[in-house]
Amino acid sequence: MELVILDTAEEIASRAADVIESLLSEKPNAVLGTATGSSPLPLYDELARRCADGRISFKDVTGFMLDEYVGLPEGHPERYATFMERNLRSRVDMAPGALHGPDALADDLEQACADYEAQMAAAGYCDLQILGIGADGHIGFNEPGGPLDSVTHVDVLTEQTRSDNARFFDGDIDAVPTHCLTQGLGTIMKARKLVLIATGTNKAEAVAHLVEGDITPDWPATVMQNHPDALVLIDREAASLLK
Ligand code: F6R
Repeated sequence: MELVILDTAEEIASRAADVIESLLSEKPNAVLGTATGSSPLPLYDELARRCADGRISFKDVTGFMLDEYVGLPEGHPERYATFMERNLRSRVDMAPGALHGPDALADDLEQACADYEAQMAAAGYCDLQILGIGADGHIGFNEPGGPLDSVTHVDVLTEQTRSDNARFFDGDIDAVPTHCLTQGLGTIMKARKLVLIATGTNKAEAVAHLVEGDITPDWPATVMQNHPDALVLIDREAASLLK
């Protein structure tokens, strides 16, 4: 795992965008895994800028979202499909319909998970997966305690995650869904490259486990230590508990 500590979210975004730019110049039809939440927003701004400048193109890119809330209706602003459309897909030249997510509106959620895993497998999984990290150490929405080799599944959000994400729901934790569909840790690990972004002191404990802790289901992101090509981009606040 390569760890890079930078001063600002903009520098982190620029470094992550460089990695994506280099991938797309080698492989214009790359498969890109996308994360939601606040951590990748400066990166999506930077990718939109580079696309507008003609430096990169997403014309032939296929995208796969990490996860989706269960229980939010089509078009809900915090639905991850809506989030990704607003923050990335509509701002670059990616084809409508090229960014996929698990179908959390399906009647049979287990089947929707199996279908999504099969769709990712058919695409050869991700060339590059963008990741954030939860304060409880989740990646995707793989909350603590699950198997380290899981595939796409239904997960239950922890109180910590629902409380952290209440900021997107006018501060109302009761409005934050309790369940989600998420790529499994095993699914994420199949990506050829992982790029994780973490900023702020709220992430410091999870980052310390990720970088210096034992690999354990209690801190799901630690599985990344087994990945042959993982880049961790953090700011000084997120690095503040590193030895
Ligand atoms: C988002 C996701 C989550 C977030 C994590 C951090 O698709 O899978 O793992 O990356 O909860 O969220 P932020 O960036 O909002 O702190």
